[in-house]
Amino acid sequence: MPGRVFITQRIPEPGPSLVREVADEVVMNPDDRVLSPEELRVGVAGFDAVLCLLTDRIDFSVLEAARGCRVFANMAVGYNNIDVEAAGRLGIRVTNTPGVLTEATADLTWTLILGVARRVAEGDVEMRSGRFPGWGPFYMLGGDVTGRTLGLIGPGRIALAVARRALGFEMRILYHGRRPSPELDALGGLGVPLDRLLTEGDFVSLHVPLAAETRHMIDARAFGLMKPTAYLINTSRGPVVDEAALVVALREGRIAGAGLDVYEDEPRMAVGLAELPNALLLPHLGSATHATRAAMARIAAENLVAVLRGQGPPNLVNREHLANGSPPTSP
Ligand code: GLV
Repeated sequence: MPGRVFITQRIPEPGPSLVREVADEVVMNPDDRVLSPEELRVGVAGFDAVLCLLTDRIDFSVLEAARGCRVFANMAVGYNNIDVEAAGRLGIRVTNTPGVLTEATADLTWTLILGVARRVAEGDVEMRSGRFPGWGPFYMLGGDVTGRTLGLIGPGRIALAVARRALGFEMRILYHGRRPSPELDALGGLGVPLDRLLTEGDFVSLHVPLAAETRHMIDARAFGLMKPTAYLINTSRGPVVDEAALVVALREGRIAGAGLDVYEDEPRMAVGLAELPNALLLPHLGSATHATRAAMARIAAENLVAVLRGQGPPNLVNREHLANGSPPTSP
């Protein structure tokens, strides 16, 4: 049953070794770069399984080029880069890597919360440029974190891990999601409508997947509701925020600042953002620790190997779309 595997970019161990133990042949793009759409289409043709990354745009044309392939194992928790519905129609399973990047992403969310409120990047520039004039009563004042209100949008695993850390900062926790979160309730969190969260949050932190309903969920209207002293934090997906509207909100002081790890059109960012001192900007580092990336590579490989062996993968995300198109597998 095992077959041929294509890995779209070099990934950490133990991913490649786990795949090699089982596959008949493994071809891995040796370059540390994202393949172009055409290179992807050519690359995946004729393979039984593909291990891909969130930077690979797996649209219908790529899936069609991979016809006969059994699985696209994405090395990411988010899978908005893959047309999961089309994959299902073609009988291709799609898997992700949930759980293993929760703590690293929550840590980075907190890096942004503290960093933007206390102007860490600006302070670093002051020192390096020799502009530090010496301590002053009004010099580089920022926002408070301890005791403030944290608003979490999208109450999943990562939001919960962010909330746990917030207890140490004695924060009031509000959350908004499609359904109540007993776990967040148990931490003292309060589920509220979106507008209330936007109005009352001192830090509004985004943890939703990117989907049609969440695209530009935070737009000019949302910034109009937020307090001028509030901060927006985004470690989810860039297009959840209308980045052009964010630039206006930051420039005009409608909100105090933004801590961003993701952007609408990565690796680019909106014109004007780079010039704003009240934006703390990180280059999509949420899961970027050695141990986390190794764990993600392992889970992606385990999902892929399960399918090669004719077993159900642990983290299948397109079960409902597969109903008519997939060959049977054991659970
Ligand atoms: C990172 O952004 C991921 O979805 O894994």
